[in-house]
Amino acid sequence: MTLRPRVLSGVQPTGSLHLGNWLGAIRNWVQLQDSHDTFFCVVDLHAITVPHDPALLAEATRRTAALYLACGIDPQRSTVFVQSQVPAHSELTWLLNCVTPLNWLERMIQFKEKARKQGDNVSVGLLDYPVLMAADILLYDADLVPVGEDQKQHLELARDIAQQRINARFAPEDQPLLKVPEPLILAEGARVMSLIDGRCKMSKSEPNEGSRLHLLDPPELITRKIKRAKTDPVMGLEFGNPERPEADNLLGLFALLSGKTRDTAAAECAAMGWGQFKPLLAEAAVAALQPLQERYAEIRRDEAYLSEVLREGKERAAAVATATLERVKAALGFLPAA
Ligand code: TYM
Repeated sequence: MTLRPRVLSGVQPTGSLHLGNWLGAIRNWVQLQDSHDTFFCVVDLHAITVPHDPALLAEATRRTAALYLACGIDPQRSTVFVQSQVPAHSELTWLLNCVTPLNWLERMIQFKEKARKQGDNVSVGLLDYPVLMAADILLYDADLVPVGEDQKQHLELARDIAQQRINARFAPEDQPLLKVPEPLILAEGARVMSLIDGRCKMSKSEPNEGSRLHLLDPPELITRKIKRAKTDPVMGLEFGNPERPEADNLLGLFALLSGKTRDTAAAECAAMGWGQFKPLLAEAAVAALQPLQERYAEIRRDEAYLSEVLREGKERAAAVATATLERVKAALGFLPAA
């Protein structure tokens, strides 16, 4: 039997998942299930790197896992699990921390952006977050990591840690200790922008909820958010005009959500005013999200099923992760447990 290449990815259970998380990441995971050995985790340890509410974390974690399933992740074919339930993630993070140069972390763009928003309250965890992400990936010997564009720099860091700081130092050249992962960033959907500013990415941490469409937003709310989305005074939708980031973003969303090619969408909307285009976009968004929302409601009617999926996922994930952790500990020279 030939082993399938391995995939690992995850989403933070902070707030609610939005269109960027779906189009940039989860939608692409679904296709990989046919050709790859797929691991998808809910990265709850990442969710506490900024101040969080303990009363909401467990439910957000279950909601995120249920959304994975609603988006088409099949627990028969994929391992779906919660990061904090596999302790090897935290343990490998410590080992990797001790070989990762501080200045590699200080130059991470996302850290700089998030730290700016936090003021004096920046935690060590926020700085260390990319090392935890590297541990998530490296524990599973992942070949491929499907993510949106904003995670590219973190993926490069994971590769550098694996190659330069672990393999080069602790393993013979012909027998690398850790697999060096490749990012998978698809051109379309990799960078979904905010509805209220086409120059900023759609993000869970933006205080204005009108900036994003949540996967669980009801149809009226989707329509209202799109109605209020930022426009410009120009007639006709088009791609690639640097002066018109909102037109580029919303036309791209229309193409993705309606399943049309970019060329078809562009031709269809080239002469449309915003007043004509927005209801079409709202209709496409509602139609694309409705089946997902129905599946989500069905999954949440059977909490025991979801618990069982996560319990099985934890076991399958822990078996792989623990073996990698032991391999790394042995190479680093730790005394084996008796
Ligand atoms: P997170 O939770 O911020 O986002 C989850 C996934 O959604 C993608 N994404 C977007 N794609 C397109 N347009 C957007 N506006 C947009 N916003 C988010 C992200 O690129 C990501 O793929 N650190 C990661 C989670 C993580 C992870 C991992 C990912 C932890 N460990 C291991 C892969 C492998 C994060 O915070 O993603």
